[in-house]
Amino acid sequence: MSSTPLLLPTSLKPAASLPEQGAYRVYMETFGCQMNEYDTELVRSIMKARGFHFTPIDEEADVILFNTCAIRENAHNRLYGHLAKYKARKKERGLVIGVLGCMAQNLKQELLDSRSWIDVLAGPDAYRKLPDLLTDALEHQHRGLAVDLSEYETYAQIVPDRAGGINGWIAVMRGCDNFCSFCVVPYTRGRERSRDPEGILEEAKRLVSQGVRQITLLGQNVNSYRSGSCDFAQLLVAVADVPGLQRVRFTSPHPKDFPPSLLEAVAQHPIICNQIHLPLQSANDRMLERMGRGYTRREYLKLVDAIQEKGPIVLTTDLICGFCGETDEEFQETYDLVKEMKYQAAFTFKYSERKHTIAARKYADDIPEEVKGFRTNEIIELQKEISLQKNQDLIGSQVEVMIEGNAKKSDQQWMGHTEHNVTVVWSKNDHPGLPGDLVSISIQDATPSTLYGTADS
Ligand code: SAH
Ligand code: SF4
Ligand code: F3S
Repeated sequence: MSSTPLLLPTSLKPAASLPEQGAYRVYMETFGCQMNEYDTELVRSIMKARGFHFTPIDEEADVILFNTCAIRENAHNRLYGHLAKYKARKKERGLVIGVLGCMAQNLKQELLDSRSWIDVLAGPDAYRKLPDLLTDALEHQHRGLAVDLSEYETYAQIVPDRAGGINGWIAVMRGCDNFCSFCVVPYTRGRERSRDPEGILEEAKRLVSQGVRQITLLGQNVNSYRSGSCDFAQLLVAVADVPGLQRVRFTSPHPKDFPPSLLEAVAQHPIICNQIHLPLQSANDRMLERMGRGYTRREYLKLVDAIQEKGPIVLTTDLICGFCGETDEEFQETYDLVKEMKYQAAFTFKYSERKHTIAARKYADDIPEEVKGFRTNEIIELQKEISLQKNQDLIGSQVEVMIEGNAKKSDQQWMGHTEHNVTVVWSKNDHPGLPGDLVSISIQDATPSTLYGTADS
C-alpha cells in the first residue's frame, strides 16, 4: 500500500540563505528504541543518496528532523519540549522541521494541525518519500505528510549509514501482530514482515568488514521472524557463524513464541550471548489476560525453568505497573515474583494509556497517578538492590569484557559489557587494548548498573 504524499500550503517564509538544491544540511535527533536508531541509519542513507548532507550542529542546519517514539506519554512530552525550541529558531531563519517515526505515524494530521511550524511528517514505512517531501518543503514551502503503513517495506536494499564503532544493529523483521492491549506499536509500525536471510547475512558480513564485532538482531517481536523455511533460531545461528564476529544478541523476543530450538541456539553457540530479554509485564494472570499477552504466569515460569536448565543464562525483563484495574494484591504478585526471579535488570514503567489501543477502548485507566508512581518505584528500588547484590557477587572474580569505547565519564577509561550485558569500566592504563578486543577484567567494585575493575595483563 502506498500513495502520493498529501501536500498542503505552508506559512513558512522562503529563507534567503538556503543553499543550492542538493546541498541542504540536515540535523537529526533520535528518540525511542534501537529500532529507531537503526531507522535513523536508513534515513541518513536514503537522504545522502539524494544529495543531502548531515551535520551534528543544529545551528547550521536547513532541516531539523526528529525520529520519534510514541510508546508512553512522556515520549510525546519530550518531543514537544524539543519542538518548542526550534519553533522560535524557525521564525528567525526559515528552517524546515520534520517529524518522523512512531509519533508521526500515531498522530498523523493531528500533529500537523496542532503544530503549525512542523512542515513534514513521515511514518516508519514512508522514509523513501522523505527526500521529495523535504525538497518540496524547502523549495516550494509545501507541508507534506506520508504515513501509509506497508505490508512489504523492509528497506532490504538500503545500506544503513552507520556512525561507526564496533556495535552494529540489523532489523530482521518489522512491525508487530501481537496487539498487546496496552501497546501502540502495532499501530505505528504496522504488520509483521521479515527480510530474507540472504540480505541479512550480507549485511552482517558488511558490518564485520566495517569493524563491527557485536551484532544485535532487532525486531519488535524478533522470534516471530520467518522467511520461507528459515525461522529465527536458524537465522540467529547463521549470523553467529559469520566469521569475524565476537558476539551476537537479539531483542526483543516474546515469551509466547520462544521455541526450544532458539533456546538451544543460545545455549550451544559460543558467540550467541547467554542473556535473554524476556518481558514479563505482570505476574498476575488477570492482568496478563487483560494485557493480551498470550501466556499465563505458569507458562512464563515454565519457560524460565527450561532456560535455567540450560545453564547460566541471565534474564532481563520489562514490567508495567498500574495497568487498568490492577489491585494491590495483583501488583504484589508481580513484586514478589521479581524478588524471586532475581533478574539482572527490570525495565519498569508506569502504565500510560495510548490512543487507539485495545486497552484505551476497553478498560478504564483507573489507577491514580500516585499509585502507579508508588508501585513503579517499589519495583525499581527492589530491582536496584537485586542488581547491586548480583554485581557485588562478582567482586573478586574475573569477567570477559569486550572493549566498546571510552567510558561516559572519562576518556582515560574503557567501557564494555560482559556476555550478560553488564556494563564494566576500567582504566586504560592497565592494558592498552582496542575497541573490539575481548579482555579479562578483575572486578573490584560494583553499583547496581556498573562493575569497576582492572584489566589482567
Ligand atoms: N516488543 C517488545 C516491547 C517493546 S516496548 C516486547 O513485546 O517485548 C518496550 C516496553 O515498553 C514493553 O515491554 C512494555 O513494558 C513497555 N510499554 C509498552 N507500552 C506501554 C504503555 N502503554 N505504558 C507503559 N509501558 C509500556
Ligand atoms: Fe507491543 Fe506486544 Fe508487540 Fe511488544 S509484542 S511491540 S508489547 S504489541
Ligand atoms: Fe517507541 Fe516506536 Fe520503538 S513507539 S519504542 S520508537 S517502535
